[in-house]
Amino acid sequence: MRILIVGSGGRENAIASAIKRSKKETEIFCAPGNGGTAEIALNVPIKQDDIKGLLSFALENKIDLTVIGPEIPLSMGIVDEFTAAGLKIFGPDRKASLLESSKKFSKDFLKKYNIKTAEYKAFSDFQTAQKFVAGKKHPLVIKASGLAAGKGVFISKNIKESENTLDSIFNAKIFGDSGETVIIEDFIEGFELSYMVAVDGNTYKPLITSMDYKKIGDGDTGDNTGGMGAITPNPYVSDNLTNKINKTVIEPTLEGLKKEGIKYKGILYAGLMIQNEEIYVLEFNVRFGDPETQSILIRLESDILDLFLSVINENLKDYELIFDNSNSICLVLSSDGYPNKYKTGYEVSFNDGLKCLGHMKSAEYFIFHAGTKKTGEKYYTTGGRVINICARGKELEINSAVYDIAKKINFENKYYRKDIGKIYARP
Ligand code: GLY
Repeated sequence: MRILIVGSGGRENAIASAIKRSKKETEIFCAPGNGGTAEIALNVPIKQDDIKGLLSFALENKIDLTVIGPEIPLSMGIVDEFTAAGLKIFGPDRKASLLESSKKFSKDFLKKYNIKTAEYKAFSDFQTAQKFVAGKKHPLVIKASGLAAGKGVFISKNIKESENTLDSIFNAKIFGDSGETVIIEDFIEGFELSYMVAVDGNTYKPLITSMDYKKIGDGDTGDNTGGMGAITPNPYVSDNLTNKINKTVIEPTLEGLKKEGIKYKGILYAGLMIQNEEIYVLEFNVRFGDPETQSILIRLESDILDLFLSVINENLKDYELIFDNSNSICLVLSSDGYPNKYKTGYEVSFNDGLKCLGHMKSAEYFIFHAGTKKTGEKYYTTGGRVINICARGKELEINSAVYDIAKKINFENKYYRKDIGKIYARP
């Protein structure tokens, strides 16, 4: 099978690695890919938002299956274009992707189908929004409705902070068109949980649970990031809770989508807040989470290509989704300064003969690249999140394995959290 993966992060490297483990004979292409995918796939220099370029490539190269990592091509309708051209592609279509690309669409959808979410209002101008926040109890949550690379959500502690946020979105236009509509919603305290299911339009199957370490600093402090690490399983989640999430969030969402005439096919990621056993939807993503996926896919025992194909062919009910019984972890090495300003272009070195996969004590480790490129035989940093070190096995051994490996990978301005894998008291 000839497979094209669209994207350039650690998630796409982990997807390529899972495909490599398939029993099927494969040839993998990655657009545009990174230094890690260069080792197991052929990188092609087409950007994730160049839908025409990707389609021409897929047609010319007789691609049998395309897998989309990030939200941007999905929101631009890549699935609609490829499907119309008779190509098999994994991911939801443009309309279904509104669940992520328009926070207003997803909040209105949740309200319409009585799925719990924080009370909210949508605004399209600074003055009206400013008046509204002046009369509201704080903290408040302010979100750009459109896509903002994970940076569009703000929690403001007082009126001044709310006004500053609104000013930067509406007047300084820090998110461009993505900030034309702003959602202001009540702040809900509790613990956050990301929950992913595979959906074929009719049937859904949950992936194993994971926990994302979202903040930049140890102890979950500082700015929000795309994710600085992840573990599986999520230690706070019981079978009872997953049953309740399925019944009160996933099933009504899929029913609601059907009623809206939307056939959802792909991965549905629900960002949830659990407060006193009540489940609130914070947001939806229409794709695999990053870095949660890296820690999930290294535990996948069944064939990932059959998962993709059973979703596309709408026979997910016949696919047995099997994960091993281990624990897993993903530690993100980033460029110091991320998620704000940081420098790139530094050489990344792998010392002591470190390979991209191997064993350390009883842990099996995987090194995925995120923000790197390969030039000649060398690797250079290109992004904020640079390398993902993942391991599966017993909890304590995998934690010490990823931290031992972190010392063997070097680049200037390397930064990582020292507490990934630590389980704090449930809030
Ligand atoms: N880790 C969160 C996300 O993928 O959006």
